[in-house]
Amino acid sequence: MKLASRLARVKPSPSVAAAARAAALAAQGRDIISLTTGEPDFDTPPHIKAAAVRSIEQGMTKYTAVEGIAALRQAICAKLERENGLRYAPDQVIAGVGVKQVIYNAFMATLDAGDEVIVPAPYWVSYPDMVALAGATPVSVPCSQASGFKLQPAQLEAAITPRTRWLMLNSPSNPTGAAYSAAELRALAQVLLRHPHVWAMADDIYEHLVYGDFRFATLAQVEPELMDRTLTLNGVSKAYCMTGWRIGYGAGPRELIRAMATIQSQSITSLPSMCQAAAVEALNGPQELIAGFAARFQERRDLAAPLINAVPGLSCHVPEGAFYLYPSCAGLIGRKTAGG
Ligand SMILES: Cc1ncc(COP(=O)(O)O)c(C=O)c1O
Repeated sequence: MKLASRLARVKPSPSVAAAARAAALAAQGRDIISLTTGEPDFDTPPHIKAAAVRSIEQGMTKYTAVEGIAALRQAICAKLERENGLRYAPDQVIAGVGVKQVIYNAFMATLDAGDEVIVPAPYWVSYPDMVALAGATPVSVPCSQASGFKLQPAQLEAAITPRTRWLMLNSPSNPTGAAYSAAELRALAQVLLRHPHVWAMADDIYEHLVYGDFRFATLAQVEPELMDRTLTLNGVSKAYCMTGWRIGYGAGPRELIRAMATIQSQSITSLPSMCQAAAVEALNGPQELIAGFAARFQERRDLAAPLINAVPGLSCHVPEGAFYLYPSCAGLIGRKTAGG
């Protein structure tokens, strides 16, 4: 069989492949702790499940608007205003099958061969492949443990070329848990303001999982002048324990959202109607439960990070957010066990 040449540019998601292997071993009766795809181990809250069931019983089982039902787009606008101080109109937002598909739509709508996307490393494994799938070139910029795994303004300045289309900014980050303060985002924004051809995607999917006195901020909020070239991304997967419902969203300039809707209309048509009803309930319903999940993740971080740091040769940055640890084993490379 002849496959399309674009497949030569991408590999299957390694974390999804690892999750499948873990599931297969578990199905064989093996006791497996899967540390593969990033998902909360808590169940979706009952009031959110009930909203989905209700929508099915009420006959909400048909195709919907491409960008998402009106109630969902309104709930997204209300969330962005309430929690981030960002005012978007419903025609400036689009929902997708998880944030992943929203990013895919944005890349497909904006990237051509030769275009570049700056991806600060360490990064979520999917970003570079998704850029390559759209025919463009990912430009990885290594961010050291010494800088808290965060992109520095001078690094951003040096990475920008006339072909740069997007900067991917994921805070808190998968896989390091590093999160940018408002001041750090402002410093990066100053660089972006000098380069009007560069747009930014703020992947805020871990927004609610931040610990201690860290305060979450997002790019368009700290620098309103970037509103008209920022795509703010978020979703219900991580905050509301809804990874399987597959609802994410993006907010940005109308022209971009319209272009993304064109891609969506010719690929998936619309999102599952009952999942949208569940996402409306998640965004409009009680929010206190998120703090409960975050507190549990913080307990685990505070238990696991010192345990790893106590191992000679391992060292681990204590993350500001998300539910990942990113230990360095540099101190062990080249060492031998007693048995060789
Ligand atoms: C940084 C980041 N962005 C996006 C996603 C995907 O989220 P969704 O479930 O909304 O597609 C993930 C999932 O692991 C992630 O880590």
